Amino acid sequence: MENQHILILDFGGQYNQLIARRVRECQVYCEVKPYNMVTLDDIRADAPAGIIFTGGPNSVYGEGAPSVPREIFELGIPVLGICYGSQLMAHVLGGKVQTCTTSEYGKTETIYDKSCVLFGEVPEKAVSWMSHTDYIAQIPEGFRTVAHTANCPTAAMANEEKKLYAVQFHPEVNHTEHGLSMLDSFLKNVCGCKGEWTMGNYAETAIRDIREKVGNGKVLLALSGGVDSSVLAALLSKAVGRQLTCIFVDHGFMRKNEGDEVEEAFRDWDINFVRVNAKEQFMSRLRGVSDPEQKRKIIGEEFIRVFEAEAKKIGKVDFLAQGTIYPDVIESGSGDAAVIKSHHNVGGLPDHVDFKEIIEPLRMLFKDETRKLGMELGLSDKLVWRQPFPGPGLAIRIMGEISDEKLDILKDADLIFREEIAKAGLDRQINQYFAVLTNNRTVGVMGDFRTYDYTLALRAVETADFMTAALCRIPYDVLEIVSRRIVNEVKHINRVVYDITTKPPATIEWE
Ligand code: XMP
Repeated sequence: MENQHILILDFGGQYNQLIARRVRECQVYCEVKPYNMVTLDDIRADAPAGIIFTGGPNSVYGEGAPSVPREIFELGIPVLGICYGSQLMAHVLGGKVQTCTTSEYGKTETIYDKSCVLFGEVPEKAVSWMSHTDYIAQIPEGFRTVAHTANCPTAAMANEEKKLYAVQFHPEVNHTEHGLSMLDSFLKNVCGCKGEWTMGNYAETAIRDIREKVGNGKVLLALSGGVDSSVLAALLSKAVGRQLTCIFVDHGFMRKNEGDEVEEAFRDWDINFVRVNAKEQFMSRLRGVSDPEQKRKIIGEEFIRVFEAEAKKIGKVDFLAQGTIYPDVIESGSGDAAVIKSHHNVGGLPDHVDFKEIIEPLRMLFKDETRKLGMELGLSDKLVWRQPFPGPGLAIRIMGEISDEKLDILKDADLIFREEIAKAGLDRQINQYFAVLTNNRTVGVMGDFRTYDYTLALRAVETADFMTAALCRIPYDVLEIVSRRIVNEVKHINRVVYDITTKPPATIEWE
């Protein structure tokens, strides 16, 4: 894989992760690094096949605007500048950047010069996605303009001899027609990448690296049954087998049958698997507690306590494995700070577990790559395609105080919802869907009797990153079946409502 990777220099653009996603879609490995944390010597030593500059919110003339040394363009490494990155290239190489009289935002008709290698597969006229208030008013010497729009004289420029390319628009965004082919062409035809980055290759390399690092050491993993920790368990099991101990703390708030399913999934793997059934312990700490934050805190703390108690039985371990994935690393902004998902782990790191080092073998993978790796390693579809599930589980989907009875009601109702979504073939399309047991009781009628029972809410969202979410338009027919089955089959629910709020202002979970 020598010289087959791409360095993405991040200037603070909102699409930095998306660029990395697209590059990997072209089966080329890449890493995103903040522009100010990489020196020229680092780049020389790293010897990437190409460099991509991301967009960013600044103007090249702004005070303290991110920049790069001119020498970066003289390393003989191809560079593609996107949006701010394109302006920066023009500016540093002696061109002129100015503020637009009319800023361009959104879908924009663009005229391409097909003789430029980036646009070989692109029609002469197509839509690109623009988002800029500055533009390249004068291109640097040695460049030629290879795309323009009505308001932007240089929508793209190229210096073919030096392998320097710049696009004002965002090829990584879906709205740019043929954007992926432009990136692919840069990677394959300009940088000479072969496109050999596959999960099979990755698994092999990762297993070798883990073995080398871990040696004869012991590894400990808190297994939640979620996608990331399950894939990590599978990977570590292939790499170090019985040197790995997975502790699965079952707090009793998983979905119906899920605790058993997790155990079942890992029973035959060559690892030490410990399941701790701690429901009673969690329930007793939660008695009388109805405040959402307090519930979350108690569960987080209790989780750590149970995990620590179990880990103590194993004694000293050498490595604590964490299922950190790439979006968490990029979001941290610094690229190499250890990211501990405070929100996504139930309660952060244990204080009293004796270990030397943390290992995070998935930290370079996106979520869908993590799923692919899981399939490569032989995990079941059910585990690999599990939807996101909050650490505190159903405890934060029962409004107010939790009781055994409410847990059973919610588990049954949630299962019906999931069954019907799967029957309708929507289970892989909807990013997250679940039931919430409200604390609200209303009057109903069943047969000849008055009922006074709970209202259940259904929630289903469409989202790319879980930071924002849109309403998922589940067909009424499906909702109707779900509602009918739930009120008929689950005791103490006499009303079902559908939550149609977006995030923001609502969050995805209710607590
Ligand atoms: P919210 O409710 O903040 O949720 O809109 C965004 C996403 O995060 C999940 N979530 C959690 N995941 N531990 C987790 O691992 C948690 O404590 C937690 N709380 C919320 C939620 O299910 C949604 O996917």
